[in-house]
Amino acid sequence: MKLSEIKVALSDTPVPEIKFFDSIGSTNDIAMDWALQGTKDYSLVFADKQTSGRGRLGRKWITESGAALAFSLVIHPTQEETEAITLFSPLGALAISDSLEILYNLDTQIKWPNDVLYRKSKFSGILIETSWMDNRVEGIIIGIGVNIKPSSVPPADTMLFPATCIEDAIGMAVDRLNLLNIIIKRIIHWREQFKTASFLAAWEEKLAFKGEWVQILQPKQETLTGKLLGVELNGNLVLETETGERLSISVGDLHLRPI
Ligand code: BTN
Repeated sequence: MKLSEIKVALSDTPVPEIKFFDSIGSTNDIAMDWALQGTKDYSLVFADKQTSGRGRLGRKWITESGAALAFSLVIHPTQEETEAITLFSPLGALAISDSLEILYNLDTQIKWPNDVLYRKSKFSGILIETSWMDNRVEGIIIGIGVNIKPSSVPPADTMLFPATCIEDAIGMAVDRLNLLNIIIKRIIHWREQFKTASFLAAWEEKLAFKGEWVQILQPKQETLTGKLLGVELNGNLVLETETGERLSISVGDLHLRPI
């Protein structure tokens, strides 16, 4: 992969600047610093290989050379977007899920808050991080990892949840830059629809385990069990317990699993 190839592939998107690395620790780290230097919206950090990529809940996300998509986009949020920052995870998940439908007719689901699943296995994750300046959020970093080739799928015994990759799901080779192009366009699309009823409806339509019984595992707190009813515009998940009580659960240090 070369920077010039990425530039050509993204020439019909508003991405103003690109930093490309053959190998880097984490694209999110580079993007967080870049945001503070005032780089424009949708500036992109792309790595062919990531040696210390991060996931949610302190997980590692290592990317082997050429096997996955690993990138971060910089966004300078409005006040309204900063106040609803939890919606950037589902925004990224919607963009990935749409792209797979558009390009490969693949029917994927979103496991709250933001994992993209195909047949109950995960092949993509999103890590939203912030860059702060003088007590305000200067940058929101949308970090996205998508497993493309079988070699990008971590060994089963290291995973909390089963994982897969796109090439296994569709049975053919994936053009990584084409996929990147569409994901970025769908991110821009959903950002324009941020906090709208259509955003919520699209998220709910793709919500994995809707109507099913699930558990929410929380460190040092009791595990919650309930039927998954849906999501709210503040990003919360809504469950109904056995006794009919309605629980609204905010995103945090939690892990959802089906029963
Ligand atoms: C998760 O599922 O826990 C989120 C994984 C996010 C991984 C991506 S890869 C690009 C970007 N850089 C990182 O260090 N992490 C994100």
